[in-house]
Amino acid sequence: MKLISNITKMQEISEARALEKKRIGFVPTMGYLHQGHLQLVEKSVADNEITVASVFVNPTQFGPEEDYDEYPRDLDRDLDLLQERGVDYVLYPDVEDVYPEGFATYVQVEKGTDVLCGRSRPNHFKGVTTVVSKLFNMVKPHRAYFGQKDGQQLLIIRRMVQDLNMDIEVVACPTVREEDGLALSSRNKYLSPEEREAALIIYNTLQKTRERIEEGERDGWALKKAMEEAIKAEPLANLDYASIVSRDYLQELSRIEGPIMIAIAAFIGSTRLIDNVWLEVE
Ligand code: PAF
Repeated sequence: MKLISNITKMQEISEARALEKKRIGFVPTMGYLHQGHLQLVEKSVADNEITVASVFVNPTQFGPEEDYDEYPRDLDRDLDLLQERGVDYVLYPDVEDVYPEGFATYVQVEKGTDVLCGRSRPNHFKGVTTVVSKLFNMVKPHRAYFGQKDGQQLLIIRRMVQDLNMDIEVVACPTVREEDGLALSSRNKYLSPEEREAALIIYNTLQKTRERIEEGERDGWALKKAMEEAIKAEPLANLDYASIVSRDYLQELSRIEGPIMIAIAAFIGSTRLIDNVWLEVE
């Protein structure tokens, strides 16, 4: 496995591998890897001749009050995990090279980015789509792997790839959960034992909502209200949003039908967690 910091070198390597007719799978990450990331890596290694993972904590997707400086980082551990899984190259660029002085170009998806997480995190998805486009240009992958846990991000990246005719297959991988249902996240490590227990309210509420839809409930506002009440009843939780949206443009649904995403974001103590489930409703 090779660690590459130089962007031009990464591009040269990808071009050479593509000339050898090798398929390149790409797993973009911000590091501090957990089983959720490793599942993406394993899938890419199984599907492609070459796998590139990137480790880059992207400053443009963090708001001024958010945890960019405190975001957990452990490159040595990440490199060991990636090497064990058979990754060929790790792209680890410097912030100054990704965003050199004078940088002035952003990629913005104009629908579905100002709702859900986009409402409390303005510019977050603009930062994500910009860096993912840049990473795609550095790695030139045939396939890119994203987790369903960040459901809104995945849907926005799919939209960007489609709208900008990027010749890349976006592969969605299911959310990896602890045994009790809590979605794996780099931020789970901030939770105290009491908060870890309280955090389960998110998954349990999603499950309850899924069950009600499967039993025939179609009133979006009634389901939303029930989700809000369930989260508010947990003393350590502070609701950001609970929504049921269409999976095309992430519009909130008053009547539940079609491909939908049930999504919740809540602070548990001071840690913001998100989770979602997808359903096809007739
Ligand atoms: O999901 C993440 O870790 C990040 O948003 C991503 C896709 C690596 C872009 O910085």
